[in-house]
Amino acid sequence: MERAPWRLWLLSCCCLALEAADPGSTVTPTWSRSRGRDAAAFRESLRRHRFLNSSPWENTTAFYGVNQFSYLFPEEFKAIYLRSKPAMFPRQPTEMYKPIPNVPLPLRFDWRDKHVVTQVRSQQMCGGCWAFSVVGAVESAHAIQGEPLEVLSVQQVLDCSYKDDGCGGGSPLNALRWLNKTQVKLVEDSEYPFKAQNGLCRYFSSSQSGVSVKDYTSHDFSEQEDEMARALLTFGPLVVVVDAVSWQDYLGGIIQHHCSSGEANHAVLVTGFDKTGRIPYWIVRNSWGRSWGVDGYAHVKMGSNICGIADSVSAVSV
Ligand SMILES: *[C@@H]1O[C@H](CO)[C@@H](O)[C@H](O)[C@H]1NC(C)=O
Ligand SMILES: *[C@@H]1O[C@H](CO)[C@@H](O)[C@H](O)[C@H]1NC(C)=O
Repeated sequence: MERAPWRLWLLSCCCLALEAADPGSTVTPTWSRSRGRDAAAFRESLRRHRFLNSSPWENTTAFYGVNQFSYLFPEEFKAIYLRSKPAMFPRQPTEMYKPIPNVPLPLRFDWRDKHVVTQVRSQQMCGGCWAFSVVGAVESAHAIQGEPLEVLSVQQVLDCSYKDDGCGGGSPLNALRWLNKTQVKLVEDSEYPFKAQNGLCRYFSSSQSGVSVKDYTSHDFSEQEDEMARALLTFGPLVVVVDAVSWQDYLGGIIQHHCSSGEANHAVLVTGFDKTGRIPYWIVRNSWGRSWGVDGYAHVKMGSNICGIADSVSAVSV
């Protein structure tokens, strides 16, 4: 399998933090790197891969191995990228509830097939997964309306969603609340490009074109993943918050083990599902670049709330 060279610090990852320490700071590692330390982390990664790959052999299960994160100790991976507390995503408040039409579910569905999902991006060293997932959902919702598919500015959300901490972490729900409340127009990425660090919020005149959010909903779909699939068909790609600790080593296959619920620390975008095989799975867009996982995507087993994927789900309309 061709893999991009694993460049240690050109990584991408994410964390969620509601109480952000030190606004204005970016995520910077506080330990010093050395060849010896990298080699030790790499050896530990190889041992971990053997453990992760030792589940009874099935040709559908996820496999783990060397990728761009293998020179990090798990503590480092967590500390830089998953360093937040478990997601404090509230349970479904009743006033946000919107009934989901009881549409029949196809065996396979992926919004990518409708050409309404932008390319996988890389957060680099910025803990901005929360903004990448939300912007991805807005881009798709916009294109599903029949508008052109545009790459919108993640940096604008990082800089301007004032209850979050930019590259230091944040919550998708805060960002959605802010977008819905202020009606800020998200401008094109080329207008306000990603720089992988926090900056001052830039304001645009009201004549500036952009996409604003009309409404959003939040759901707890645990034990109701078919309902979640209907929500995906009805509303578009879904913002979810997962436990991504074992994703450090993920190369491909369907994640079915080694992933807890209740420890959510990473926001991603579910674009589809596939129930054609023995193990049904969600198709999940990450923001760690295209060299991670399956062309930047992960496959997560459906139906058992693996990685907590159904716990904190948001949909957006534009
Ligand atoms: C995987 O296993 C299933 C059932 O054991 C089998 O039908 C299928 O052909 C296998 N697929 C591959 C790619 O080996
Ligand atoms: C989003 O904003 C609209 C318009 O102000 C409001 O009616 C709606 O309740 C808001 N949605 C949520 C989930 O707060």
